[in-house]
Amino acid sequence: MKIYRSSGSGSLNLCASGYPGALLSLAVLLFVVAPPLFGQSVNPFEGDARAIRGGAGLFRAQCATCHGADAKGIVSIEAPDLTQIWKRQKLSAGAVFGSIRNGIPGSIMPSHSLTDTEVWMLVAYLQSVAETGVIGLPVGDRGAGREAFVENCSECHRAHGVGESLGPNLTGITLQRSLESLVASVRDPDAFVGRGYKVVRLINSKGREITGLIKSEDAFSIQLQDDTGRLRSVIKADLQTVERLSGSLMPEFASRKLIDQELFDIFNFLQSGA
Ligand code: HEC
Ligand code: HEC
Repeated sequence: MKIYRSSGSGSLNLCASGYPGALLSLAVLLFVVAPPLFGQSVNPFEGDARAIRGGAGLFRAQCATCHGADAKGIVSIEAPDLTQIWKRQKLSAGAVFGSIRNGIPGSIMPSHSLTDTEVWMLVAYLQSVAETGVIGLPVGDRGAGREAFVENCSECHRAHGVGESLGPNLTGITLQRSLESLVASVRDPDAFVGRGYKVVRLINSKGREITGLIKSEDAFSIQLQDDTGRLRSVIKADLQTVERLSGSLMPEFASRKLIDQELFDIFNFLQSGA
């Protein structure tokens, strides 16, 4: 067998020599016809109007019963608002593809036997309804915001190098989320609990109770961060009870406890650099 090495002029040489040329056009044909691959993280259909329309149709037929016709989620069955997933959890297109294809273990989110092309069309639709982050923050005092953050939030959150890590790191969050959804996170945290922060209460075979955040889960085990911050893995077969709590570990901050201006100060601190 002959080995064709491309010299300086590369593929042009190959094309000129007959048989490899045919191979090359076959490769080109396959590349064009083959559906985009699972595992890539860039959606080949992002922004493509026809794909978005197709995705919207699939969404109405297969997803709207749980996620709502507008993709805004249905709280009572804990199906999340899919217009928020991009900025809220910084999900990549590839990760969303994976959730749609494989479902989410431990939840009612099913796997879907759709073609890659159909799944990417759904992802394109979800990208088209994504909400964008904060455009302008209300004026606030960063210094006062830092103090209010240390006093109210730092026992669970880190930002600009200050605080603990039970909850998500809040550095830069104001660039990813709308003001409205940020305010909602603080005033009513139970309405949406992000993945990795769902609370579970377990009783193990020795009768000991463990409360923690589910970091991941499969059919046999749960990986959780307990209330002392320690990460541990528990085998489901060893547990007496598993109680999934619907609320967030984050306390609700009513405006009596933290007035709007204090909250805007905190957001200005989060947005700034220090
Ligand atoms: C039977 C109800 C149900 C159906 C049908 C359903 N979902 Fe879900 N979906 C859920 C629930 C509940 C979750 C949250 C799972 C969790 O994180 O605990 C979810 C999670 C997701 C997530 C992950 C969001 C995140 O925060 O990572 C995506 C993406 C998603 N669904 C898209 C879809 C699409 C697209 C369809 C249709 C092809 C669909 N879902 C159909 C109930 C459903
Ligand atoms: C007792 C711990 C605790 C305190 C105190 C706390 N939080 Fe949280 N917070 C959490 C946890 C856990 C989550 C993740 C679960 C969820 O989404 O509700 C969270 C989520 C959030 C989110 C959503 C982040 C995202 O990526 O979606 C925001 C915004 C937030 N907190 C802001 C604040 C602010 C501002 C304060 C102080 C005024 C505060 N939190 C105080 C534990 C806390």
